Amino acid sequence: MASSPKLFLLLATLIPSCGLLLADFAPMTLTVVNNCPYPIWPGIQANADSEVLEGGGFYLPALSHHSFPAPTHAWSGRIWARTGCAPAGGAQELRCATGDCGGRLQCGGLGGAAPATLAQVSLHHGGNDNDQSSYGVSVVDGFNVGLSVTPHEGRGNCPVLACRKNLTETCPSELQVRAGAGDGVVACKSGCQAFGTDELCCRNMYNSPQTCRASKYSQFFKGECPQAFTYAHDSPSLTHECSAPRELKVIFCH
Ligand SMILES: *[C@@H]1O[C@H](CO)[C@@H](O)[C@H](O)[C@H]1NC(C)=O
Repeated sequence: MASSPKLFLLLATLIPSCGLLLADFAPMTLTVVNNCPYPIWPGIQANADSEVLEGGGFYLPALSHHSFPAPTHAWSGRIWARTGCAPAGGAQELRCATGDCGGRLQCGGLGGAAPATLAQVSLHHGGNDNDQSSYGVSVVDGFNVGLSVTPHEGRGNCPVLACRKNLTETCPSELQVRAGAGDGVVACKSGCQAFGTDELCCRNMYNSPQTCRASKYSQFFKGECPQAFTYAHDSPSLTHECSAPRELKVIFCH
């Protein structure tokens, strides 16, 4: 019963590739956590060619979470929180003070109204050449709720990326959004949304890495949230190369 060198060789070559296969096809979970003291209605918008997940939006009570399987193929998109929502007629209708997606409960592929903080996610599975997931936090379209993105059990450099501060308390008055006159601040616009200039929006002649620059508004966001993208051609302050995480958690108000 002595193991033959041939058998050993066979096992030695099989076992690592077996491990690779398992890692490649391990299912991944997306979890959205509402750590806010109020309900939110997360929205999920897939980029072109990626499918709508969870109907594109759902209700998430305070201090609760919702997990669902990530697609087993490449997927990219964004997740944001809608706040201050109230039913608007039909069961599928919902009007939100921030992040509203066409007045629907399930966004079904529609994006949310700015301003809203975005978790941006790009997942790759299966390919041996690229099983990296990238993720980030963006306040390029303004801010409504702080959030963090946490990968679990990834290989490589997998930092938590976040914009945790409640910027509605500190953003410049020209960026503040109130639900109604006399109401508290519910969100902060980007400089682009507040003033609409080509320069602040990085449009036309300003649409290149050389001409699209930080502004005093994006610098306010950068100062509070150094890890977040704050204007169209902003570069990440913290890079990551995270392979095959088993779970990606987007936590609002954390
Ligand atoms: C953030 O600040 C606003 C006031 O500007 C407040 O209404 C809101 O509840 C705060 N959010 C959290 C999560 O504390």
